[in-house]
Amino acid sequence: MSYSIKNNWDGLASSLSKIWDLSVPKTAMVITDENIAPLYLADVHTVLANSTIWHIQHCIIPSGETAKNFNTYTNVLQAMYNAGLDRSSVVVALGGGIVSDVAGFAAATFMRGIDYINIPTTLLAMTDSAIGGKTGIDFLGEKNLIGAFHQPRLIYSNIAVLSSLPKNDYISGLAEVIKYGIIKDVALLEFLNENISKVLICDEATLLHIIKSSCDIKTEIVTQDEKDNDLRQILNFGHTFGHAIETLMDFKLPHGHCVSIGMVCALRYSVAKLNLPQDDADFVIDIIRKYGLPISSNLSPQQIYQQMKRDKKAQSGKLTIIATSKLGTAQIVKNPDEKGVIQCI
Ligand code: GLY
Repeated sequence: MSYSIKNNWDGLASSLSKIWDLSVPKTAMVITDENIAPLYLADVHTVLANSTIWHIQHCIIPSGETAKNFNTYTNVLQAMYNAGLDRSSVVVALGGGIVSDVAGFAAATFMRGIDYINIPTTLLAMTDSAIGGKTGIDFLGEKNLIGAFHQPRLIYSNIAVLSSLPKNDYISGLAEVIKYGIIKDVALLEFLNENISKVLICDEATLLHIIKSSCDIKTEIVTQDEKDNDLRQILNFGHTFGHAIETLMDFKLPHGHCVSIGMVCALRYSVAKLNLPQDDADFVIDIIRKYGLPISSNLSPQQIYQQMKRDKKAQSGKLTIIATSKLGTAQIVKNPDEKGVIQCI
């Protein structure tokens, strides 16, 4: 798994050439969604067509979480089969987290697994979902019930695309960057605090720094615990609360916004139970607020707690939450006491 962060599409060719001999023919299928196709499919197609002698096919899936289903997955497999993909072929996932989940899962399972690359088009995907090889679809009403760990050969982020990302989606992605600061990198938190206006106008050098820092942290963690058995769980800081809020809000509040509220809950829990200094929690909550991310919801603590227990990460009804006793570090708290959790919501 390697990644490149550039401000154009041209760097894609040299990134690909580090992985494959581009003079060897192959079939590549670009999988994207109906929102991204009109924006960037032609650009990516042109770069691939000019830099390789690959036979390039497209498959466009519906957009949105509801598209992450068995039907879309089988349609993608059918398209791959019809296009004559074989074990030497490459899947190119162009889009946000939903595209990389579905396309990555299709790549993981087609002919027992073929290569894929991720070209993320959202800040959330560039900093989180495109990295680490989690692929899958929702099933029986449960998010990511079916899936596989399958590492992309390359993650190619063109930060120029972020200027066309809706503001709310961009802000949502910043929640994951703040999360990396909390669990691993106090300097990143300080950088986010000192460069708010530059981050908000998508200043190029600033974006490069925060995306690279996020990719480095996630790669380091995933390299140590690819299958999410232990250390990788710290990436879920704020997410146990956040997923519950996301479900209760019918996915109408963006993921990062829900995670922000969840991070505030996790910080409060950390102050109450792990002696995180209140000033440190306030420092982070202030950053969350300054970026326009929410710190609370109208849902009741009981509602959120009950939903958390239904979350797939609750094993045998027992919760796991991630907390911190010191900014820049994280702890996995298994089976936290109910009263303590409810009080911090
Ligand atoms: N987004 C959390 C993980 O990849 O493990």
